[in-house]
Amino acid sequence: MSQIMNSYVDKFTESLNQTKLDSVVNTQLEESMRYSLLAGGKRIRPVLLLMTLSMLKTDINKGMETAKALEMIHTYSLIHDDLPAMDNDDYRRGMKTNHKIYGDATAILAGDALLTKAFELITKDTYIEADDKVKLIRLLSESAGHQGMVGGQVLDMESENKEISLDTLRKIHRYKTGALIRFSVVAACTIAKVNSKTFLLLDSFSQELGLIFQIKDDLLDIEGDFDKIGKSVGSDVANHKSTYVSLLGKTNTKVALEQHVNQALYLLEQLEDQYNTEELKSLTKLFANREN
Ligand code: IPE
Ligand code: IPE
Ligand code: MG
Ligand code: MG
Ligand code: MG
Repeated sequence: MSQIMNSYVDKFTESLNQTKLDSVVNTQLEESMRYSLLAGGKRIRPVLLLMTLSMLKTDINKGMETAKALEMIHTYSLIHDDLPAMDNDDYRRGMKTNHKIYGDATAILAGDALLTKAFELITKDTYIEADDKVKLIRLLSESAGHQGMVGGQVLDMESENKEISLDTLRKIHRYKTGALIRFSVVAACTIAKVNSKTFLLLDSFSQELGLIFQIKDDLLDIEGDFDKIGKSVGSDVANHKSTYVSLLGKTNTKVALEQHVNQALYLLEQLEDQYNTEELKSLTKLFANREN
């Protein structure tokens, strides 16, 4: 996706490829889990976690298992999001969606298994203390579950075929996408044991970043190129989804995107006396200008 992300993506992918997914059950389940997990998503959540750790002058190996756990949960959310009962999409990460290859039942179970595996990975982490593992597991559960991503997915489904307010839409985005992006940053803050001022600034920054990411996703659903985004264009329109574009139109969506980018960069500037924020600044701009 870009130069600044490459070294983090490479380290992450190397570690992910070594993660064992075999089991005694020995069914198509593991093949289906690997199919989606190793399909080569952008890995922006792991990169954000590792990049934040690096800015906080902490060994990125301390975040590697948590980054893998996060990517597993994100991948499960995509497998389920694409199911006929949800967005009913046929392409993801440039390939047929999981259920198109393995069937709905195996796709549901692959998602369940990736979700569960995530927590196993954190418990087995040898780089961090037991206290921190408990904190991370608690944060990840809250971010992924009904108070987080899953809650947002429900709001998203409930808002199909409806006129909703911009506040409600922001809430959908804050949970369905924002919660896991926020986790990337807050997990790094937890591992690096930052002070409360730094925590509050980075927490606010991560919430801006979550909105930026999903606003751009809404735009790409309208004006993206299938060969670049690797998933169907026009899915939101077909499903009568409430999105930034359906509510505000393309032009005002781009204005809103710019405002959130400026706010995110402003928050990072508050940390400049202590930390080098250049990488996170570049990543913020990339989130808004990406083509995939
Ligand atoms: C897609 O996430 C779902 C959203 C929350 C917008 P990504 O755009 O990060 O998907 P991958 O991981 O690169 O496939
Ligand atoms: C999905 O939002 C957010 C998830 C939790 C998976 P979308 O439904 O807009 O994501 P895409 O566009 O299918 O990747
Ligand atoms: Mg969806
Ligand atoms: Mg979708
Ligand atoms: Mg989308």
